[in-house]
Amino acid sequence: MTTHTARAMESSTMRIGILGTGSMAAALGGAWVRAGHQVLVGGRDAASAATTAARIDAAGHGSLTEAAAYGEAVLMAVPASVARGLALELAPVLAGRTVLDCTVPMNPSPDGPVLSTVGGTDSVAADIAAAAPDAGVVKAFGICHESIWTLPHPAFEDAPLAVPFCAGTATAAALAEELITSMGCLPLPCGGLPRAALLEAAAVLAIGIWWSGGEARHILPSPALAPGAIDDMP
Ligand SMILES: NC(=O)c1ccc[n+]([C@@H]2O[C@H](COP(=O)([O-])OP(=O)(O)OC[C@H]3O[C@@H](n4cnc5c(N)ncnc54)[C@H](OP(=O)(O)O)[C@@H]3O)[C@@H](O)[C@H]2O)c1
Repeated sequence: MTTHTARAMESSTMRIGILGTGSMAAALGGAWVRAGHQVLVGGRDAASAATTAARIDAAGHGSLTEAAAYGEAVLMAVPASVARGLALELAPVLAGRTVLDCTVPMNPSPDGPVLSTVGGTDSVAADIAAAAPDAGVVKAFGICHESIWTLPHPAFEDAPLAVPFCAGTATAAALAEELITSMGCLPLPCGGLPRAALLEAAAVLAIGIWWSGGEARHILPSPALAPGAIDDMP
């Protein structure tokens, strides 16, 4: 048994409601079901919610409000342009829970994808936190393509997938850490919500690189791979 599998098995079962019934709802929801969590898929269309829930063997399906009220964690898996309004509408239900925000605020441009404008702050995650002030918010899971979450044990080049996250509260950070570990991945805390804009921008940059035929994972070799030069770093 690998250390990672052992750590995954140590984590406790969570109840996770999902807002949205599309690709990310199915991919992340499926990963969480495999990790032993209870998942409820919520959508504005009952038939879509039922279809996605059946596809991933979720514990159930329901409305957006029912998904928000289901458990300690709530995944925001809707278009970035919709997230703030949904958080505002569901704020009383989201109070005391952790919202996992995987959205990527992106618009096309002649130069490739660019960040889209958000509502009042510098990131969707901070917008959600402002709209639902009694919820904890975590920016996470937005950098990888949905297909990565369908892998039973995402690991590449002998290393488990690292999942960067920015959390607005200590409770939200602890939940993210436990959830990511339970998936067999490596949690990578990247600070609080003031840094969430960096994750959103990184996702847009990576998508632009993939769309232009490049390989985003090749652009960030560790300075440790250039021993000697590291002494000159500031
Ligand atoms: N796909 C990826 O690889 C990927 C990777 C990282 C991050 N993301 C981000 O994850 C989020 C979801 O992406 P996705 O690929 O899962 O999209 P998707 O397959 O298009 O699903 C979007 C979901 O949002 C729902 N929705 C749309 N407008 C809504 C509204 N006004 N109120 C309530 N629900 C609404 C849709 O419901 P209907 O079916 O009723 O329209 C659908 O269930 C996006 O923010 C995206 O940027 C995606």
